[in-house]
Amino acid sequence: MGDALEYLSGPALVPDPAWPFRLRQAYRTGDASASPLQASNQRFAEEADTLYKFSKGHGGIGCQGCHGSTHAVWPNADAGSNDNVAARSLQGYTGTVMECTTCHAPGSLGRTVNGPHGLHNVNDPAWYDDGHEEFYENNKNRCKSCHGADLTGTPLSRTPTARTFRVEEGERTADYFKGDFVRCDDCHGMPSL
Ligand code: HEC
Ligand code: HEC
Ligand code: HEC
Ligand code: HEC
Repeated sequence: MGDALEYLSGPALVPDPAWPFRLRQAYRTGDASASPLQASNQRFAEEADTLYKFSKGHGGIGCQGCHGSTHAVWPNADAGSNDNVAARSLQGYTGTVMECTTCHAPGSLGRTVNGPHGLHNVNDPAWYDDGHEEFYENNKNRCKSCHGADLTGTPLSRTPTARTFRVEEGERTADYFKGDFVRCDDCHGMPSL
C-alpha cells in the first residue's frame, strides 16, 4: 500500500515485518464490513473509485495489460501454464511486463523516470552506465521510494530476470540473478544519502 517511503500505517493494520509498505490484509482487522483499504499514496493504486479490471495506468494501458487479469495476476507458479505465455512471448520472461522495448522501439526513449509507476529505463546502458546521477541529485527521494531509504534495495527494485550490466567501458560488471534487489552500491560506493 504505497512505496518504500510513503505507505499506509496506523492501527488495525498488519504490515509485513521486513517490508512495512506491504500489508498482509485487504481490510482493517476487526472491520466487520470488510471495506477495502484505500492507498494513501497513489503510485501503485487503481484509478479512483475504479476496479482493477477497469483501471488504466501507464500510457492509458489497462493494469491487466501488464499484470494479467484480476484473479490470475502474472506470473503463474506453473511455469508451463497458458497464463505465462503472453509475458514470455512479449519480453522473453514471465511476470509483469517491464521491458520498455516491448512497446517502445529500442533507443526511442530518452533517459526518463516517466515509465510505469515512475520507473526509469530498464536494462538500458544509457541509464545504468551514464546519466542517472543527475536524476538522483535532483530528487533523492525519487530513487529511495523503490531502492529504499538507505538505497540498499527493496522488493520494488528487484530484477525480474537474470541481468548482466557492463559499466565504465567494460571495466566493471554487475551480475544479478532473477529476484535480486538492485542496491546503489553494486557498481560504485554508496552515494551520499
Ligand atoms: C506498462 C506496464 C504497466 C501498467 C499499465 C501497470 N503496471 Fe503496475 N507495474 C509495472 C511494473 C514494471 C512494475 C514493477 C515496478 C517495481 O518493481 O517497482 C509494477 C508494479 C506494480 C505494483 C507493485 C507490486 C509489488 O511488488 O509490490 C502494483 C501494486 C501495481 N504495479 C499495480 C498496478 C495497477 C493498479 C495498475 C493500473 C492502474 C498498473 N499497475 C498498471 C508495470 C505496469
Ligand atoms: C505495454 C506497453 C508499454 C510498456 C511496457 C512501456 N510503455 Fe511507455 N508508453 C506506452 C504507451 C502506449 C505510451 C503512450 C504513448 C502516446 O501517448 O503516444 C507510453 C508513453 C511513455 C512515455 C511518454 C509519456 C510520458 O509520460 O512522458 C515515456 C517517457 C515512457 N512511456 C517510458 C517508458 C519506460 C521507461 C518504460 C519501461 C520501464 C515503458 N515506457 C514501458 C506503452 C508502454
Ligand atoms: C518504481 C520503482 C523504481 C524507482 C522509482 C527507481 N528505480 Fe531503479 N530500479 C528499479 C527496478 C525494478 C530495477 C531493476 C530493473 C531491471 O531488472 O533491470 C532498478 C534498477 C536500477 C539500476 C540498474 C540498471 C537497470 O537497468 O536495472 C539503476 C542504475 C537504478 N535502478 C537507478 C535508479 C535511480 C538513480 C533512481 C532515481 C532517479 C531509481 N533507480 C528509481 C525500480 C525503481
Ligand atoms: C549497474 C551499475 C550501477 C548501479 C546499480 C547504480 N549505478 Fe550509479 N553509476 C554507475 C556508473 C557506471 C556511474 C558513472 C557514470 C557516470 O558518470 O554517470 C554512476 C554514477 C553515479 C553517481 C555519480 C558518481 C558517484 O559515484 O557518486 C551517482 C550519484 C549515482 N551513480 C547514483 C546511483 C544511485 C542513487 C543508484 C541506485 C538507485 C545507483 N547509482 C546505482 C553505475 C551504477
